[in-house]
Amino acid sequence: MTEKRHQWASNLGFILAAAGSAVGLGNIWKFPGKVGAYGGGAFLLCYLLIVFLVGFPVMLAELSIGRATQKNVVGAFRTLNPRWRFAGYIGIVTLFVILSYYCVVGGWVLKYVQIYAAGAHFGAGPGAYADYFSTFSARPVEPLLWGLGFLVLCIVVVVRGVSQGIEKVSKVLMPLLFLLLAGLVVYSVTRPGAGEGLRFLFGIDPARLSGDTLVGALGQAFFSLSVGMGIMVTYGSYVPRTENLAKSAGCICILDSLVALLSGLAIVPVVYITAGPEAMGMGGGFAFMALPEVFSRLPGGVFFGFAFFLLLFVAALTSAISILESCIAWLTEEFGFARLKATLLLVIPMSFLSAGY
Ligand code: ALA
Repeated sequence: MTEKRHQWASNLGFILAAAGSAVGLGNIWKFPGKVGAYGGGAFLLCYLLIVFLVGFPVMLAELSIGRATQKNVVGAFRTLNPRWRFAGYIGIVTLFVILSYYCVVGGWVLKYVQIYAAGAHFGAGPGAYADYFSTFSARPVEPLLWGLGFLVLCIVVVVRGVSQGIEKVSKVLMPLLFLLLAGLVVYSVTRPGAGEGLRFLFGIDPARLSGDTLVGALGQAFFSLSVGMGIMVTYGSYVPRTENLAKSAGCICILDSLVALLSGLAIVPVVYITAGPEAMGMGGGFAFMALPEVFSRLPGGVFFGFAFFLLLFVAALTSAISILESCIAWLTEEFGFARLKATLLLVIPMSFLSAGY
């Protein structure tokens, strides 16, 4: 039997849950690295322009489609036009793939929260931090168990439902996220020499205002806003008809950009001071290899590192929850499964995919 359709209990709860979806690894893990790789202020300018000129209308369209159809992403596109159902399936495949790697990175983050809580003992010598991460991530079982732990936390929230699970957790975690981030920013920008990093973050080099930077900013903005994958269609379908969607979409875009900006402020100056500009453009291992080394050179670095990885964990969790919910909504509504059964049906094949990374 199909469940009664869920609804957000309050508009604030919806905005926090949707902002929780948007604010994720993209903002805190990827954004500072991309700012570094694409030359600082030029990237920031392109990014903000794209968020508000392209991302906002796309988000509003997705939320409106969800609310108008009251359906999951596949059902919503099918309702608009049966021939567009494939767009919904593309969303489901995208979500499935994103969640499988989100759990892997979420597991690494949990592990690093534990390491910092235990005093951050990475070993000695040059390259100890990079070696630690390479050895840990190459182990056959341990990273899988951490990833599974992360996934179980998502499941515990999602099976409780939209207002009782996702909304309640977002109302606690999002203020915590802002608090942690504000603390990190204050610490970072008050370090002696922080001005250099701030100049890099906000200074616009006209030579870097290129097509490359624009494309980099476009990909980052879509991923960061959680658009183009069906999450906002699903979350929009739980919004009561009385709410003003344009206002809500505006708030979500502002909150998401604010977190990206604050993450830049928290990370760029400390990396600049301790490791120099060349450390900025590092790729995926940036948070797990370069940052622990940077943190080790800061006074109170263990505490800073703990707060940073806790922040990353909170951000990753609320995003992973939204991805899982969008898949669960599809399975429960299209096939009539109960939430728990749908969750298990989804996460078992997904765990195998995660294990392959
Ligand atoms: N929007 C999510 C992120 O930024 C998926 O990580």
